[in-house]
Amino acid sequence: MERKNLIAGNWKMNATHLEAIQMVQKLSYRLELSDYDRVDVVVIPPFTSLRSVQTVIEADHLPIQLGAQNVHFEESGAFTGEISSPMLASLRVNYVVVGHSERRQLFAEDDAMISRKVKAVLSAEMTPILAMGETLEEREAGETDARITSQLKAGLRGLNPEQVSGLVVAYEPIWAIGTGVTASPEEAVSGVGFIRSQIEEMHPGAGASVRIIYGGSVNAGNIAALMAKEDIDGALVGGASLDPDAFASVIRYWM
Ligand code: 13P
Repeated sequence: MERKNLIAGNWKMNATHLEAIQMVQKLSYRLELSDYDRVDVVVIPPFTSLRSVQTVIEADHLPIQLGAQNVHFEESGAFTGEISSPMLASLRVNYVVVGHSERRQLFAEDDAMISRKVKAVLSAEMTPILAMGETLEEREAGETDARITSQLKAGLRGLNPEQVSGLVVAYEPIWAIGTGVTASPEEAVSGVGFIRSQIEEMHPGAGASVRIIYGGSVNAGNIAALMAKEDIDGALVGGASLDPDAFASVIRYWM
């Protein structure tokens, strides 16, 4: 089963809509059309920039895809400050990050909520990027596999095999996020491989087609070694995606 690589830039809470327009334009100047044949390129700006970035993408016919960083699990209603899946889908958002460790740790998102969000994203015909990973304490206590298994079980609960096959899962060890400490290619592929084997066990057949990407201090200097591992299907990039030059170098990891 052919899995197309995917490299996504999670801008987190950075950039105004004016800066976002410039960032996506600069990124597009630095990429060749043939790059998009090798990699699905995704930018994930804050909500306030989605409309502006979508307009640039469509006006200039850029093959860049759009992602959102979060979503509420209900379709509409009295949820002040929240954004729903149909709202994102109407902006032609393709991907939604669900279960990022910053949402889990700083905003108390639990597995039950994450499961509802995954279903909301799928029902609006977008693709969840389901993020998971262990803390340093869990890793040192030998609890990495157990932690990932429980996050995976919760995230996939109630999905059919076809939905699971179409997911993107991001393995993001928390100790590697924003720290400059990347997992070694061996550590990254071991996490990704474990996730793939667990998915295959839960949904036979889906393991070969689900895309599993790595995130945590990915930059232009370490991406090639990560991508050399066949099981790693791409990257979820934070800090390095804010600089269009650096992000373009990550995307063109083979250069
Ligand atoms: P950094 O690349 O800044 O470590 O962030 C990773 C991340 O959390 C992407 O979602």
